[in-house]
Amino acid sequence: MTVAAAAQAAYIVAALLFILALAGLSKHETAKAGNAFGIAGMGVALAATIALAVTEKISGTGLILLLVATLIGAAIGLHRAGKVEMTGMPELIALLHSFVGLAAVLVGWNGYLHVEAEAGSPEARVLAAQGMLGIHSAEVVIGVFIGAVTFTGSIVAYLKLSARISSSPLVLPGKNVLNIGALAAFVLLTVWFVINPALWLLITVTALALLLGWHLVASIGGGDMPVVVSMLNSYSGWAAAAAGFLLENDLLIVTGALVGSSGAYLSYIMCKAMNRSFLSVIAGGFGIEAGPAGDRDYGEHREITAEGVADLLAEADSVVITPGYGMAVAQAQHGVAELTRVLRDRGVTVRFGIHPVAGRLPGHMNVLLAEARVPYDIVCEMDEINDDFAGTSVVLVIGANDTVNPAATDDPSSPIAGMPVLTVWEAEHVIVFKRSMASGYAGVQNPLFFRENCAMLFGDAKDRVDDILRAVTAATPAGTRH
Ligand code: TAP
Repeated sequence: MTVAAAAQAAYIVAALLFILALAGLSKHETAKAGNAFGIAGMGVALAATIALAVTEKISGTGLILLLVATLIGAAIGLHRAGKVEMTGMPELIALLHSFVGLAAVLVGWNGYLHVEAEAGSPEARVLAAQGMLGIHSAEVVIGVFIGAVTFTGSIVAYLKLSARISSSPLVLPGKNVLNIGALAAFVLLTVWFVINPALWLLITVTALALLLGWHLVASIGGGDMPVVVSMLNSYSGWAAAAAGFLLENDLLIVTGALVGSSGAYLSYIMCKAMNRSFLSVIAGGFGIEAGPAGDRDYGEHREITAEGVADLLAEADSVVITPGYGMAVAQAQHGVAELTRVLRDRGVTVRFGIHPVAGRLPGHMNVLLAEARVPYDIVCEMDEINDDFAGTSVVLVIGANDTVNPAATDDPSSPIAGMPVLTVWEAEHVIVFKRSMASGYAGVQNPLFFRENCAMLFGDAKDRVDDILRAVTAATPAGTRH
């Protein structure tokens, strides 16, 4: 068997491993195995690609460059992955998507420089003889376009998620016309480039796509960022598939299509969970206008001490804890798990209400609670718990904000209007743990904080949970209640 045939066989094995990886990642229990399949698939794919390059086309210098690039990339990847906090995961993912986009742009430009720009080259002559030059030009321009949109879009997402730029949506006058105009221009330029593959046309498409990617993501508000990350995941898949066509690499096409379609489907599921129109989000906040300035007067808020909360908990029959991003920042999950255990030992019903986009990535809260050994059966999804708030004595909102904002249901002019939220305000008492009156990720004020039955417990969530634990155990030693 030739190396080429062995590599093709290895590609099929790798593609199957990637499919098994996706299937495994869809369930909590099989996620680890899914990850292992993915790693194995990537290992097989890398080995086959390097073997193919070594035996077929590569020079000595090329081989050294390949090895050095692989080693540097692997070292940076290992270092970053080892260091990243759970809360920094979405921005790291956004940054990695930008690399896929950039790679697709470079592959497209490389294809152009080897074929269209050099009519006499052996590749160009072969393609011309097969009547495939037009197809090649279309692949170049489409790959460069998708790659460049992914590249700048992911960089803006990275900057927004890491709070290096504001997460509020950019609203340029006529932004929808700008987006649609850019898409129409791309179609025209593609046809033109296929007929006459001139350098200036490719430069124009690249610049147009870089601007479009930047504008698409800049126009999306903070509340919709989770969908943007999975949407860019999808775009990066299509960019990889486009590069696969140019490089005639079947595995890249298959893998790109898997990532592209699974990312698109995840975006669709998340849009449904947030009651957002899928089209409006992928079209760069199409139809979403800027919300009103957050200067409405909601009145005065009330404050409570940790001892006050301990007193409320001592009287409570049922407690629901709704964690959010602040719990992750404070790393309060272990204290929260301990408080849960103490309260349950005293006969209090304690459950958790998890919003689908609480935190900064899907499943963020579930992972933290599992890490702190909170039993799975008391961790409920939003839909499972929303009807029970009315009969709940105390809700502890720990570092959550947008996900418990009543404006989403009460105020049609709010930027998060229509997003399903945890209806915590229906409980008898609501305690909100945060450090200040600052707004949440979506940048909107939360009227919950000013409701009669709500009190604020200011400070770092971990410190406050520890204070409550101390007060609870000092006031009522275990087993003395009920
Ligand atoms: P947020 O609305 O971001 O609110 C988190 C709150 O935690 C803030 O109001 C902050 O207030 C508080 N906080 C921060 N550090 C704290 C600390 N050390 N101790 C105590 N409180 C602290 O979070 P959420 O309710 O989880 O909502 C998630 C938001 O992120 C949504 O808008 C969602 O769309 C977006 N998002 C989600 C995802 C996914 S997929 N889950 C991805 C990207 C973005 P202070 O500053 O006053 O303390």
